Amino acid sequence: METFAILFYLLILFLLCATLLFLLYCILPIVITRAPFININPRAVPEILKALDLKGGSVFYDLGCGDGRVVRAAAEAQPGARCIGVDKAHVPVWLARWRARNVKTKNLTFLRENIFTMDLSDATQIYTFLYPKPMQILLPRFENILRPGTRVVDGDFPIHGRTPVRIIPLQHQDKFGRTLYVYEF
Ligand SMILES: C[S@@+](CC[C@H](N)C(=O)[O-])C[C@H]1O[C@@H](n2cnc3c(N)ncnc32)[C@H](O)[C@@H]1O
Repeated sequence: METFAILFYLLILFLLCATLLFLLYCILPIVITRAPFININPRAVPEILKALDLKGGSVFYDLGCGDGRVVRAAAEAQPGARCIGVDKAHVPVWLARWRARNVKTKNLTFLRENIFTMDLSDATQIYTFLYPKPMQILLPRFENILRPGTRVVDGDFPIHGRTPVRIIPLQHQDKFGRTLYVYEF
């Protein structure tokens, strides 16, 4: 009986540790990151889509897509464009896929990848809502990899060392969405 009780408690302890490790594995990447999981004001989405100006045949990446609100709206607004949401953390990608479950178009994909190392050479439009440091890391990649004419629409955190072609103050400003910076590479 005593052996059974010890085994039972060891099993409970093992399950608790496994659950804790799993939660840490899921949650740490969205907390310990250069750009935490904060989504842009949903009322900014139509203005972002307008600035992106997606066409049939566009290849659009939402880098650090969070819950996928921008890339989801983009896929629905322009079914002829290939729309890819990328996030390195599990939770945002799960959430983004769940929220996109009713999207009827077939042009939307979510990838769990690192935006600092992935291939972006086929991009025609990119959207970012990251912090200043990630934008500085992305700048040399954009300059080296992107095809001439690729448009980058960047929320709130301008890329130091690059001049935007347009600066668009958002109509519905809040602390998560004030200004769009549009770059052409
Ligand atoms: C501020 S949120 C932006 C959310 C969304 N783009 C929006 O506008 O609502 C930044 C996201 O970038 C992701 N992220 C941070 N560093 C990343 C990296 N190196 N690779 C991929 N995603 C990253 C975070 O997990 C987070 O979900």
